[in-house]
Amino acid sequence: MARILVTGGTGYIGSHTVVELMQQGYDVTIVDNLSNSSVDVLDGISAIVGRRPEFANIDCNDYVSMEAVFKQYPDIVGVIHFAASKAVGESVEKPLMYYRNNLGSLITLLEVMRRYHVYNIVFSSSCTVYGQPDKDHLPVDETAPIQKALSPYGNTKQINEDIIYDEAHADSSLHATILRYFNPIGAHPSALIGELPNGVPNNLLPFVTQTAAGLRAELKVFGDDYNTPDGSCIRDYIYVVDLAKAHVKAVERMLAGTPTEQVEVFNLGTGRGLSVLEIVRDFVEATGVNVPYQIVGRREGDIEKVWANPKKANEVLGWKADTPVKDVLVSAWNWEKHLRNIQ
Ligand code: NAD
Ligand code: WQD
Repeated sequence: MARILVTGGTGYIGSHTVVELMQQGYDVTIVDNLSNSSVDVLDGISAIVGRRPEFANIDCNDYVSMEAVFKQYPDIVGVIHFAASKAVGESVEKPLMYYRNNLGSLITLLEVMRRYHVYNIVFSSSCTVYGQPDKDHLPVDETAPIQKALSPYGNTKQINEDIIYDEAHADSSLHATILRYFNPIGAHPSALIGELPNGVPNNLLPFVTQTAAGLRAELKVFGDDYNTPDGSCIRDYIYVVDLAKAHVKAVERMLAGTPTEQVEVFNLGTGRGLSVLEIVRDFVEATGVNVPYQIVGRREGDIEKVWANPKKANEVLGWKADTPVKDVLVSAWNWEKHLRNIQ
């Protein structure tokens, strides 16, 4: 069976994708420098799948070490590139670190791929590239205009997309699939892998589950005066396992040689927007656990409402994010309980 190199494969989305790839019979080599994940994730993956992925503790910016990986595994037929720094606020504080890590790792990877004649890459992009779409572009499809990034992190995704287009233009052998994720949430149903936020979570779901677990006194809902039905912001929350499965579809499509364009772009979302208050309500209903919350002022830089038109991914990849949101919220809670040893 073919081998896929997964950079950032011990991270949140990467680990779930490694599970889906291995369950479909792929061999997997993970490259991760563990800057935002733990080596223990490999135990979780192995327990779910029944075999262990290959793992190299390497920084993707390190050309020599990356080259050694391609030498060691000549059966690599494609790469999924998750490795990146992803905290929006931190990127504002440390822009150079973000540009160095997120741009350098992709550039190094593409250089090594070219050298070793590996021509398929799936890249983790983000709905952040669309900013706040105007009302004519909601739900957002892939033709919606890219808007000036609101953070250095968002800018790295835009520049990375440009780098991929330029390299594909220069090298007609290269095929790339750019996946623009909306808001990934939840954890594997086994509760053996999930999201491991660093310190106080910035993202909604980890904050909700930590509040439910009693680690945080209350959730702060950032604003109830937006132009939305209940006044809180709207996002397209996509189950991380559904998201992981889209990567397998993208890999299959590239290996089958069916892409119609050298660089294909897909929005990965459910097609349904949910407000912050709806998420809290659904979580309480689905788990029976209370989440104290308080409405506070808006968070700087927040988008009012955005959700995906996933038609292209549905039709072209033959993929749909269809796990009911309450099941997703229960999976997030089960993972939090696993982390905190709550019965
Ligand atoms: P994550 O932090 O859990 O995973 C990223 C992994 O990459 C981590 O394990 C980290 O240790 C590793 N890494 C970072 N820099 C590295 C480097 N230079 N060399 C080797 N490993 C490195 O994040 P995630 O949520 O799983 O995100 C995966 C990808 O998806 C990222 O590119 C992220 O920007 C993108 N994305 C995430 C979201 C989200 O909300 N989680 C949304 C859109 C896009
Ligand atoms: C969701 C909603 C908050 C926390 C970020 C990045 C984006 C992408 C996904 C990578 C918003 C509200 C949150 C809290 C709250 N990442 N909220 N109280 O901002 O949509 O996107 O992660 O590409 O680039 O910007 O996700 O989970 O932070 O927030 O009320 O304590 O929850 O205001 O409306 P966001 P989020």
